[in-house]
Amino acid sequence: MVPLLDLTRENKPLLDEIKAAMEPLLVGSQFILGKAVDDFEAAASSYFGVKPEQALAVSSGTDAQLLALMAMNGGLDMPRLSSSSEAAYRDTASTRPPGECVTSPFTFFATAGVIHRAGMRTVFADIDPKTFNIDPVKAAEAVTKNTTALMPVHLYGQACDMDPLLALAKDKNLLLIEDAAQAMGAKHKGRPVATMGDMGEVSFFPTKNLGAFGDAGMLIVKNEKYVEKARRIRVHGMKNRYEHLEVGGNFRIDAIQAAILQVKLKHLNSWHEMRRANAARYRELFGKLNLGEKIILPYEDPNCYHIYNQFIIRVTNGKRDALKKHLDEKQIGNMIYYPTPLHLQPCFAYLGYKKGDFPHSEKACEEVLALPIHSHITQDEIAQVVEAIGVFFK
Ligand SMILES: Cc1ncc(COP(=O)(O)O)c(C=O)c1O
Repeated sequence: MVPLLDLTRENKPLLDEIKAAMEPLLVGSQFILGKAVDDFEAAASSYFGVKPEQALAVSSGTDAQLLALMAMNGGLDMPRLSSSSEAAYRDTASTRPPGECVTSPFTFFATAGVIHRAGMRTVFADIDPKTFNIDPVKAAEAVTKNTTALMPVHLYGQACDMDPLLALAKDKNLLLIEDAAQAMGAKHKGRPVATMGDMGEVSFFPTKNLGAFGDAGMLIVKNEKYVEKARRIRVHGMKNRYEHLEVGGNFRIDAIQAAILQVKLKHLNSWHEMRRANAARYRELFGKLNLGEKIILPYEDPNCYHIYNQFIIRVTNGKRDALKKHLDEKQIGNMIYYPTPLHLQPCFAYLGYKKGDFPHSEKACEEVLALPIHSHITQDEIAQVVEAIGVFFK
């Protein structure tokens, strides 16, 4: 038996330190924001190379993304609702088409879910089949006069091809929000993800390389123009107590999660290195199996520092589901991220897409399979995974 992920191996050695970090919060009943959150934001901001005020610890990755889109007002510079401008607001809001945000259909649901919830229209652009990330050429083709934002996703822990996307955003005057939920610590040409565009979000969902003991996330507000507003929107748009400049949400992180994350952050880079070593070991062992094109190992872009939140193989020739069944029977952890592209999800039928619109994303959904790659997997477990796959193809 090889689990896909075993969080206890990572957390157990840190439990004493984590309990010590939590204790003053429990004793002092300090649960919301406060020093633990400030301290974590300071530590995380230095990890990302931004100022402390630019790193907002929030309730989840999803909320960080929604907050980003709310802070940019859907990309439309709408006059703020006030008694004097209410009529003007209603006129422009009702006649102006919603801002469009271009993103990938091959990602976790949250990416497009938040675009919808922010009152924007999701426009999909297909992926590069090698990296699984949005193809910048397709992204450029998807831009219309209503486009206000780009939301590239750094899937599985590897950064997108950022230079053409940054150039596109500049050329068309679009806000660029990076979905780095799976990729904190990943880099493109030495630049940390979540810091290259206007804003960038990471998730601390427990399965991420930096995982909380529950839900949490962070928004990096690189474009300083949005810092104050984003901080307000985290607390219902409140500037001074009970003075609300805009409608925001309750997007605060729990102080306890911040304290836990602060302990774990110190280990993040070494966990990345362990995952990278595991990926290298997989390559070595699969190389010896000589499976040809039966499976395709993850492509590592030489411009990228890949943090392997997932190790995703492609299983070709329509064999993915049979291999999955074989691994399930052998109790080898595996998972399909993701079985359905977002343009074919029932809730997005209103966008008018159909099967065949994004062939690379659709094919990826039929072929991808995640294998165990977590930082504390043993060499023997990696060997068991590879051996089980070898037996399947014999
Ligand atoms: C690509 C992507 N975007 C957004 C999210 C949302 O993050 P969270 O689960 O913290 O809300 C996730 C989480 O898995 C994700 O993988």
